[in-house]
Amino acid sequence: MTKAVRVHKVGGPEVLTYEDVEVGAPGAGEVRIRQHAVGLNFIDVYFRTGLYKAPGLPFIAGNEAAGEVVAVGPGVTNFHPGDRVAYYFNLGGYASERVIPADKLVKLPDHITYEQGAVLMLKGLTVWYLLHKTFKVEPGHRVLIHAAAGGIGLLACQWAKALGAHVIGTVGSKAKADIALANGCDHAILYNEENFVERVKQISRGELCDVVYDGVGKTTFPGSLSCLRPRGLFVSFGNASGPVPPFALADLNTHGSLFATRPKLNDYVGTRKELLEGADTLFAAVINGKLHVPINHAYALKDVAKAHIDLESRATTGAAILRP
Ligand SMILES: NC(=O)c1ccc[n+]([C@@H]2O[C@H](COP(=O)([O-])OP(=O)(O)OC[C@H]3O[C@@H](n4cnc5c(N)ncnc54)[C@H](OP(=O)(O)O)[C@@H]3O)[C@@H](O)[C@H]2O)c1
Repeated sequence: MTKAVRVHKVGGPEVLTYEDVEVGAPGAGEVRIRQHAVGLNFIDVYFRTGLYKAPGLPFIAGNEAAGEVVAVGPGVTNFHPGDRVAYYFNLGGYASERVIPADKLVKLPDHITYEQGAVLMLKGLTVWYLLHKTFKVEPGHRVLIHAAAGGIGLLACQWAKALGAHVIGTVGSKAKADIALANGCDHAILYNEENFVERVKQISRGELCDVVYDGVGKTTFPGSLSCLRPRGLFVSFGNASGPVPPFALADLNTHGSLFATRPKLNDYVGTRKELLEGADTLFAAVINGKLHVPINHAYALKDVAKAHIDLESRATTGAAILRP
């Protein structure tokens, strides 16, 4: 028996149930791992509420973690008991032990801790593909990052700055503004108090942004489109405030021949080669000091409901981990 957090019916944080579960031996191509740290993500909230559909009920929540290999199944040759590993994988993460396909794991370099690994595989890889693949951020680009003090936000601000971009962020409070500014943001806009479109126009002297990274969704749309220069790219990658409503394709024309995309991590690390390219780049950025991993909160796995309440009520900054 091991401990896990299961969802038997979708709903509020109270549906997160800490209980005993059986974990079997790994099958062909699988590995069993003992988890040392689990990452908390807004996507966990979407699965819990039913906005994103789990394959069935009950399901074990959680989408990224790090730990050590304790057993390998038939045919697994590249992982061995004792290896330090981390992963991003849809569901099954909120557990003290689990079985997972070996091809979803990456080995953690010596200098990356379990805690760092547990928040880098989903959040860090997402920032990697958003800044290097969805839009290639280069020196001189002006980028707008919504929720700049969040888990994704702080990593994105740091990495965009390191790539030479001029970084504008939006945040929900003055305290969050200070944190964003200390993490590579050049200007932090309090979007609950200020008109962020007008502030972006002022800051950029009317030139607007090359790209907008929007994980907030409903409340920042369509303002995000008005922050883009002609032919700029709108990257809608999340729905923390609710999904972006349907809109007319012609709106992209009237806002200046814009491009728009709605990407997800699975489609950028779908092959082993892509996963390893992203992880190698990410770990190197942390090891060489380009990227600091801001783990600002830790909860016991059994207290995960409190973690969800804090995340949804905008009380967290940076990344949070759960300790099994
Ligand atoms: N597409 C992908 O591949 C992918 C992968 C990973 C994550 N994501 C998305 O990235 C976004 C950030 O994820 P995260 O885990 O790092 O979360 P997070 O940014 O740490 O937390 C969400 C933040 O969104 C802001 N927010 C604005 N309106 C909100 C509202 N009505 N309710 C709650 N929060 C609100 C809050 O910051 P302020 O108080 O500063 O406004 C809050 O702290 C999410 O939308 C997530 O789905 C997408």
